[in-house]
Amino acid sequence: MSGDRGVRILVNPKGLDADVGADFLTRCFGTPWSEAMYRWYMQRPFGSEAPDRLVLMDGERVVACCGIVYRLARTPDGTAHRISVIVAGGTLPGERGRGFFERLLRATAARSAQRGRTAVFGFAVADKSSARCFQRLGATGIASAYIASRGLLRDAPQSTLRICRATVTARWPARAAAHQHGPPPQAVFHYPDPGEWTSQMVDRPHPVEPLRIGSTCRALIECVGDTDRLQWLDGDPRERLAAIHAIAAQAQRRGRHFFMYSTRRDDVESVRRLGLVARPGYLMALAAEARHEPTVRRWEALAWDLQSGDRM
Ligand SMILES: CC(C)(COP(=O)(O)OP(=O)(O)OC[C@H]1O[C@@H](n2cnc3c(N)ncnc32)[C@H](O)[C@@H]1OP(=O)(O)O)[C@@H](O)C(=O)NCCC(=O)NCCS
Repeated sequence: MSGDRGVRILVNPKGLDADVGADFLTRCFGTPWSEAMYRWYMQRPFGSEAPDRLVLMDGERVVACCGIVYRLARTPDGTAHRISVIVAGGTLPGERGRGFFERLLRATAARSAQRGRTAVFGFAVADKSSARCFQRLGATGIASAYIASRGLLRDAPQSTLRICRATVTARWPARAAAHQHGPPPQAVFHYPDPGEWTSQMVDRPHPVEPLRIGSTCRALIECVGDTDRLQWLDGDPRERLAAIHAIAAQAQRRGRHFFMYSTRRDDVESVRRLGLVARPGYLMALAAEARHEPTVRRWEALAWDLQSGDRM
């Protein structure tokens, strides 16, 4: 291990491509990253915005890295805020606890400010280093939950909503946007162009199954390994819980696990009653510059409704 004098951060260096990058993230996360995943998460342009990659070098060795992708968050007053999201932040196991992630996060904020962003978002399970790094830098934490199946669902056979295969059309995001205007007004990730929504929610690195559920709900399920990930759900709020129950029950019938992410405060207790487990986390929002801090602090009081698939 060399001292910290040889530590530097490179922005979009040439040479670290999907083959090397996927291998690096596999070593950091301890779960397999394919080249297709690396390209989708780290190198996919979004609208006219190219993502950035930050690579932290100790001497000549890559020891940590992260991606920065650029999105819009729309608050209930109608403002579309230009934000960035830090993705796939990883430090090699033998190099942890040296402040590398914190350095990457500071550099992400600086890069985001250069690109005119209000805040850096990060998705973190509570009580993890990455969440604590955000907190140390003064980020606002918006409560969220990582919801998953563990053991058998309650009342799975009583799940009554009908599920059938569907075809995604451009009307899906438009109809969901209409639902968002009802009370309570919510803050959401905003996709002004249906093509951007499709690239985020439908054209994902693993197969995506579009479904109609009950009389009003539509869902997109990404089949990742042995898990059905509910990436997007829209419909009448009164049918939402029953739709989640139906999707989780279908996963169970297929011998698969179920996963979804939620920032809706009412979801946690409801899904626990179904027999799902909800692990607490935070949607972290770090002001990219001091002048944006008052705006970002106000976001804590808003009702956020992020889709799992917004989370990258
Ligand atoms: C999460 C992760 C990126 C953190 O990387 P890291 O480089 O170890 O992070 P840091 O060194 O900045 O911070 C880690 C801890 O070391 C501590 N630390 C930093 N510098 C230190 C120093 N000089 N001496 C002692 N402790 C130090 C930090 O305070 C922090 O402590 P905490 O966990 O109690 O808050 C890393 O664990 C990882 O790659 N995990 C797997 C991938 C993952 O989960 N990524 C999530 C982000 S998307």
